Amino acid sequence: MTSAIRHYLQFSDFTADDYAHLFARAALIKKKFKAYERHQPLVDRTLAMIFEKASTRTRVSFEAGMYQLGGSVVHLTTGDSQLGRAEPIEDSAKVISRMVDLVMIRTYEQTKIEAFAAHSRVPVINGLTNEFHPCQILADIFTFIEHRGSIAGKTVAWVGDGNNMANTWLQASEILGFKVHVSTPSGYEVDQSVAGLRSNASYQVFKDPMEACRGADLVTTDVWTSMGYEAENETRRAAFADWCVDTEMMRAAHPDALFMHCLPAHRGEEVEAEVIDGPQSVVWDEAENRMHVQKALMEFLLLGRPA
Ligand code: CP
Ligand code: NVA
Repeated sequence: MTSAIRHYLQFSDFTADDYAHLFARAALIKKKFKAYERHQPLVDRTLAMIFEKASTRTRVSFEAGMYQLGGSVVHLTTGDSQLGRAEPIEDSAKVISRMVDLVMIRTYEQTKIEAFAAHSRVPVINGLTNEFHPCQILADIFTFIEHRGSIAGKTVAWVGDGNNMANTWLQASEILGFKVHVSTPSGYEVDQSVAGLRSNASYQVFKDPMEACRGADLVTTDVWTSMGYEAENETRRAAFADWCVDTEMMRAAHPDALFMHCLPAHRGEEVEAEVIDGPQSVVWDEAENRMHVQKALMEFLLLGRPA
């Protein structure tokens, strides 16, 4: 029974063909949402959301999305469940997955979500780990397509930390055929083996963030200090000082370039207010699209491809 389950633990769990389906489906689901037209294929289905780290967008988008699909939601955090009192993740997975149809987890190590999935009777979705944030990149690429068409052959500039977002962009570039220009401060580089890449063919590393932005179709960044790394805050502030996306970097990019940030953002740190609040920024569409793509994702994991 468990062999047929598909999880979404990292971007490379799906093929280019799966993504083509998801993007088309998300567009349809979004259109229906805007027209106040019901789309309820998941009546009587339940999603458990487990948060071991804080969230605004992920919680609201999954919770509102699941209700809109006709289902319901159970919300758990480390503090208010036995997860915070050292119940083994494997036991939690066995119990929770007997009662719900789908599980979304935001946690620390990728190994933890993998352990949960290995003992789960139902599909598990990665709502962010230290290593990956696949739902966010799903939304980001959907947003790019809405504004500019296919991302295949385009160039994405990553300016900042070699973190979960950077790793996921790199995985996506291998699957969907685009290029990533990566610029991180030294000591914060992407690690190809952590990112789980097949090769280094889809990305190029730049010391100077301005050079990474040159000619890019999309410039994107993220916080200097991700959740779980707060103890490094001061060291990171010093190391990342030159990795602030500013108007000069946007001028180096393609004149039509978009700016994205998964949010929450720190204006004056990783991005200037003029950029994130400027005309090239699509951060609000990007945030809203989390809900539409995740509705398509939940439908896909539970029902496959509708005929
Ligand atoms: N981008 C994102 O995942 O936001 P939250 O941390 O608010 O969920
Ligand atoms: N890289 C950030 C993303 C937050 C949505 C973090 O992991 O905290």
